Amino acid sequence: MQADDIIEEEPQTRADLMALYRESRIGEVLAELDRDLVGLAPVKTRIREIAAHLLVERARETLGIASGAPTLHMCFSGNPGTGKTTVAMRMAQVLHRLGYIRRNQLVSVTRDDLVGQYIGHTAPKTREVLKRAMGGVLFIDEAYYLYRPENERDYGQEAIEILLQTMESQRDDLVVILAGYESRMETFFQSNPGFRSRIAHHIVFPNYEPHELLRIAEQMLIEMRYRFDDDARRVFEEYLARRIRQPNFANARSVRNALDRARLRQANRLFAAAERGSGPADADALMQLEPCDIRASRVFDEPSS
Ligand SMILES: Nc1ncnc2c1ncn2[C@@H]1O[C@H](COP(=O)(O)OP(=O)(O)O)[C@@H](O)[C@H]1O
Ligand SMILES: [Mg+2]
Repeated sequence: MQADDIIEEEPQTRADLMALYRESRIGEVLAELDRDLVGLAPVKTRIREIAAHLLVERARETLGIASGAPTLHMCFSGNPGTGKTTVAMRMAQVLHRLGYIRRNQLVSVTRDDLVGQYIGHTAPKTREVLKRAMGGVLFIDEAYYLYRPENERDYGQEAIEILLQTMESQRDDLVVILAGYESRMETFFQSNPGFRSRIAHHIVFPNYEPHELLRIAEQMLIEMRYRFDDDARRVFEEYLARRIRQPNFANARSVRNALDRARLRQANRLFAAAERGSGPADADALMQLEPCDIRASRVFDEPSS
């Protein structure tokens, strides 16, 4: 080897955050998150903060001042249909691009996937799920169902112990996200402080405002290549105002279900018209949702106030 081939290994003294940001390509994921999801401002801010923190952590590594693998387990709390599962999938993408998980994969489970019915069934079931999720994100929906204090020998406890152990020992290779109603998660953490102490980020998902639900509906319609005519939009607003007050209202999920039913009614309407000899339908007719497609909902059966 010649002398001028030898390059002095100078210790790095500066880290280029912008270069790390560009290389990771998380900018795209964050921009998509902003664009595809209506509202959720506080959630989006938290995701950006976490992404920035992890990027800085990468920079610290390059300068040799990192303090071990950061804990990344999270809790997403909020009512049904507030976007927890959707955001968890984006989170997995962010973690993957930053190299904190090996696979851009989210395995979503509930108590039934982890806990067995009979003695000796729970540990293998939980281990099987963990094996499947390893290297990515394990999303445990309605995590509090794992803990049933009213059942003295509930097998959920066994799953909890294995999860807690794995969340600690494999935390450089598995990110666990617990999800569920905020108040029930809180009760769950009170009885299971081990879980709380392992969670690095608690993110609360607020309910959507009526105008956000309308925007979500319009965005879903664009994706499905349908649209409201002007009257239908007004009827849908009225539909939302009524639906929000019902006890089983589930935010964006209720919006999706309502649109699915409206599309069925539209199809019925078009078919009935064709049977009556209305002739071929154009693209407009096949895309348009009309007021009657929404007004036929049972939500309108009850008096409005
Ligand atoms: N902010 C949003 N903008 C657009 N669509 C949304 C938004 N939040 C939720 N959705 C849609 O609503 C549905 C339910 O969301 P999901 O993430 O499953 O909610 P959760 O897991 O909190 O019950 C999904 O179809 C999702 O795409
Ligand atoms: Mg969900």
